[in-house]
Amino acid sequence: MPEKKCFYITTPIYYASANLHIGHSYCEVITDSIARYKRERGFDVFFLTGADEHGQKIAKNALAAGKEPQAFVDEVAKTFKDTWKAMDITNDDFIRTTDPRHVEVVQKVFTKLLNQGDIYLGKYEGWYCTSDEAFWTDSQVGEKHVCPTCGREVHKETEEAYFLNCKKYIPQLLKFYEEHPDFVPDGKLNEMINTFIKPGLEDLCITRTSFSWGVPIKENPKHVVYVWIDALLNYISALGYLSNDDTRFQKYWGKNAEIVHFVGREINRFHTIYWPILLMALGLRLPDHVYVHGLLLTRSGVKLSKSLGNAPSPLPLIERYGLDSLRYYMVREVPIGEDGTFTPKQFVDRINMDLVNSYGNLLNRTLSMIAKYFDGVIPSYKEPLAPAVKQAYQDINLYLNQYETEMDAYNVTKGADSAINLINIGNKLIEVEAPWVLAKDPLKKDELAETMYVLTEVLRVGSIMLRPFLVTKAEEALNQLNVPFEERQYQSIRTYGKLSGIQIGTMSQLFPRLDKDKEMAYLADLIDVHTGEHA
Ligand code: MSP
Repeated sequence: MPEKKCFYITTPIYYASANLHIGHSYCEVITDSIARYKRERGFDVFFLTGADEHGQKIAKNALAAGKEPQAFVDEVAKTFKDTWKAMDITNDDFIRTTDPRHVEVVQKVFTKLLNQGDIYLGKYEGWYCTSDEAFWTDSQVGEKHVCPTCGREVHKETEEAYFLNCKKYIPQLLKFYEEHPDFVPDGKLNEMINTFIKPGLEDLCITRTSFSWGVPIKENPKHVVYVWIDALLNYISALGYLSNDDTRFQKYWGKNAEIVHFVGREINRFHTIYWPILLMALGLRLPDHVYVHGLLLTRSGVKLSKSLGNAPSPLPLIERYGLDSLRYYMVREVPIGEDGTFTPKQFVDRINMDLVNSYGNLLNRTLSMIAKYFDGVIPSYKEPLAPAVKQAYQDINLYLNQYETEMDAYNVTKGADSAINLINIGNKLIEVEAPWVLAKDPLKKDELAETMYVLTEVLRVGSIMLRPFLVTKAEEALNQLNVPFEERQYQSIRTYGKLSGIQIGTMSQLFPRLDKDKEMAYLADLIDVHTGEHA
């Protein structure tokens, strides 16, 4: 057996300033789907998420809530963990920036970079956005003096501060970009180069003295580390970098591991410019990819965000529609690199069309016909003779190959689409072959058997493909078909013919049909209460 290839995948650590909403869940669900897929493909996966718990904004929120910052973030971090549990997120670790294991790494990194001359003490004057905890230059805030990210007003701040010598690393960074055109897929790096690097990247101010809720530096404890530098280091502190036991770090940040960060487009800059610079300064390898996904927006194009108060929690949606429907909608309906809206009509239509009509229905019809025509026993597999059945096997291979290509490129939207297209091979075949007609003709017994057989394979293969998205229902479908353990494994996905003679399990409806008007009204209420927009 060749050694498993290591795959390290991360989401950003979420700001512990408020509860999670469906925008955050979107980021987590697509990343979790990739992590699950990679595990299916035999990779040794480590999937990290966590909470970003330092900074002025969080200190202010804690004060407003009448709590100590630590007590405040303890509560918020717990809600994060509970939400990810409710969404069946398979993270292998949950890092908090207030964890002592993280704080130590931030301090050690600071000392290392200070000693080697990559960090120096200076004075900072700049435009600061309290909400985004980001400093901006004159050209970035424009004449109106607003934050380019959130549009809020910025103010001038001056303080003694330490700086990271970014300028020194620009040539090395540009060379890296050139040599690794896939570092940021879909051309999402060009904007960064044109907006931030070409006009001249300044050294980054990386400490603050105006507040104390952060990691104090050992050399000068009135300074706390800038929240973004603190936060970015989570990706390696969680693996035990610079700790007594760095086995995980050696493994998942090793040169043979595949490393991917998933981030939303508004934090592209930090992950594709400053994070690589930090890693270069530390003499560490860079990630293989920073995958920049789009955002969930309100219908009028505003980002869903808790601080703007326009985003609902995923929990009521899970309660009403089940986790798999929500996960499927997010993955399938919002093209992964683009922004999308959570639209009640699209939600109801997508669930009814793909999960109820295509998937649930195929399972139901197949099982009922096996019960009716074969006493509940899957007929024996034989080389198919009927042209439509032969074609169905070819189409299975086609969509399966397509699925793997898309999922390997992290395109979960197209991956899910290929899986449903594969399921629809079965629905089309039923229309063409009309098993109820074949069943009446004694001469068509073999054709009926091979038709029913391939339908079970469509369902088996399709369910394995859907498993990263439909984390309980796909397995439920395999249970109803009574597929043996071995044939459920991804490595057996292309092994056809092993289901002969299996007594099918108990049938039940996978997804109830959604009443369009009723559910659209419910969803519009839920969403619009937050966005203030009515359909
Ligand atoms: N704490 C920083 C990340 C530090 S990582 C070293 C942060 N936190 S965040 O909570 O504001 O956002 C976390 C992730 O959620 C980001 O990738 C962000 O793009 C994503 N989303 C937040 N709102 C979103 C939508 N409305 N839609 C999709 N993703 C969204 O940034």
